[in-house]
Amino acid sequence: MPSEGPNAPQAAYWNGPATRAWAREHERIDARFAPILELLLARAAPRPGERVLDIGCGSGTSTLALAERVGPGGRVLGVDIAVDSVEVARRRIVKAGLAQAEVLLADAAAHPFSTGSFDLLASRFGVMFFLQPIEAFDHLRKALAPGARVVLAAFRAAAENRWTSGAVAAVRDLIPPQPTPGPEEPGQFAFADPARVERILRGAGFAEVALAPEDVPMRLGADAEEATGFAMALGQVSRALQNAPDGLREAVRGRLLDFYRAAEGPGGVVMPAAIWLVTARS
Ligand SMILES: C[S@@+](CC[C@H](N)C(=O)[O-])C[C@H]1O[C@@H](n2cnc3c(N)ncnc32)[C@H](O)[C@@H]1O
Repeated sequence: MPSEGPNAPQAAYWNGPATRAWAREHERIDARFAPILELLLARAAPRPGERVLDIGCGSGTSTLALAERVGPGGRVLGVDIAVDSVEVARRRIVKAGLAQAEVLLADAAAHPFSTGSFDLLASRFGVMFFLQPIEAFDHLRKALAPGARVVLAAFRAAAENRWTSGAVAAVRDLIPPQPTPGPEEPGQFAFADPARVERILRGAGFAEVALAPEDVPMRLGADAEEATGFAMALGQVSRALQNAPDGLREAVRGRLLDFYRAAEGPGGVVMPAAIWLVTARS
């Protein structure tokens, strides 16, 4: 794993026990985030023959989807810092037989990409974790051809994403106090402030920076039971419960069941994800 360089602490985090579930749970994650990937692809409109850089590609779902669209004459390079996720992504690429897709285990902020070699920079929730974001995006911009498109999905504020912040609030008195990253620190909500995102991308030399808010219905499970199981397996509540005694886990489970039951409907537990679709040009 990239244990040196500008994002070494993030490399440790994304290769630690708290985040391994991103590789293990990729099918359930993908089911939830599928509508977000569709939005991203619609906005990015990858064309046959294009060269795409997919940042923080995780277990490779976006890389595979992009590779299908650019076809055998194109190229998609996924980059991720997490060993387990990269292994899953590589297995999936082989299984899909998409020779135009490749995944690199690297810190995207430091890998020596060839200059000017991509037409599109895409990411589903993979760019909020740079410790020095302006430098990281400046580095990525140099890998792009002049005028290349950038399309990024990133979460808006935690308060607008009740599917996760509401779940944490429902168990707050049961779990240890949760650290809240500062406004300039990496994390799930590091791109919540549109002024900060503009400052980062413009500071890194990008043009035509725009943020479009999207509220995307996300199916968290067929019922509250399934949504609760997922929250216990991945995300802030699950991290807070690492090494927790069974009694505490059961108390938390009960609260989450009540929380998600309130959102149960005929289509399952559906809550909106509040995201930005960030676009720019190199
Ligand atoms: C929230 S996950 C999203 C994964 C995937 N894009 C998806 O939507 O399922 C963030 C991903 O960014 C990766 N990541 C974080 N910092 C990175 C860096 N500096 N370089 C490359 N990948 C990074 C993590 O390892 C993780 O897989």
